[in-house]
Amino acid sequence: MQEKVNAILAEIGSADANSQEELEQFRIRFISKKSVVGELFAGLKDVPNEEKKAFGMKLNEVKQAAQAKFKELIDKLESSSEGGDHAHPDLTLPPSGAGLGSMHPLTYVRNQIIQIFERIGFNVADGPEIEDDFHNFTALNFPENHPAREMQDTFFIEKNPDILLRTHTSNVQVRLMQHQKPPLRSIMPGRVYRNEAISARAHCVFHQVEGLYVDKNVSFADLKQTLYHFAKEMFDKDTKIRFRPSYFPFTEPSAEIDISCQICKGDGCQLCKYTGWVEIAGSGMVDPNVLASSGIDPEEYTGFAFGMGIERITQLKFRVNDLRLYTENDVRFLQQFKTLH
Ligand code: DAH
Repeated sequence: MQEKVNAILAEIGSADANSQEELEQFRIRFISKKSVVGELFAGLKDVPNEEKKAFGMKLNEVKQAAQAKFKELIDKLESSSEGGDHAHPDLTLPPSGAGLGSMHPLTYVRNQIIQIFERIGFNVADGPEIEDDFHNFTALNFPENHPAREMQDTFFIEKNPDILLRTHTSNVQVRLMQHQKPPLRSIMPGRVYRNEAISARAHCVFHQVEGLYVDKNVSFADLKQTLYHFAKEMFDKDTKIRFRPSYFPFTEPSAEIDISCQICKGDGCQLCKYTGWVEIAGSGMVDPNVLASSGIDPEEYTGFAFGMGIERITQLKFRVNDLRLYTENDVRFLQQFKTLH
């Protein structure tokens, strides 16, 4: 028995701990209830009475040695980890980044478009993405069986009566004119859908901003000046703009709007197909049939409308040359826009 006690004392004396695990092993072996020291105390009852006192004192000595060693090992571990991984944090250091997200470039450009038009008196309106045939086509002067309906590659949800995913934001024009009296001056940003195969240059989901101004005596000159102002605010002051005659069922006359290429500044490059110009919007004077089918008297009021693609404008501003990047959620792409706000 005496030998065993001495062996344990020696073991305690030479014990060391270089990690939390080793410290824990020491605690289990010498401090815990089931430790070897505990076992010795349990054996005290079998010691002859005349030796009990001396042996008890010896056991207390072992217990104290184990506790003193345990404290020593704790202190040693604490001081050795200072400055290491387990050190107390330095609260005076600046905080590390909280991993904040960044604004999506399409959101940024949409907000910019909204701000530019708000400053010249347009308000923002919204409409449904799931739409009926009337608001997406018929009221916009698309005749029944007209090829223009086919050109829009519509996703149908139900047939007869037709319910579909809107192919453009022009549906909101109709809803506005049905529910509000002129003067109307609104822009309508939103998501639109077309049944297109996804590639770098085409997508089945994209974004547009529609514009509508209806009042007495609104003229083509107003349309021109408004979009001229927009292009200069959105891009730089030297941006040139041109109106190219075009056709849309809901406007007469109609024009497509080109701006001087932002990449090559008009010299010619791949993006502008060496023309120096890129198309950014469709526009025109609201067709009298559209005013009438939305409940506005075309004898009294005139209006202009336009529709632009947010992806296209973002491409020109940030040189994003693949439409798929916008929806793939690739952090390497998104992180490039961290400074936008
Ligand atoms: N809705 C047309 C499109 O998606 C764009 C458009 C053209 C909108 C002319 C208009 C407009 O309001 O006047 O291609």
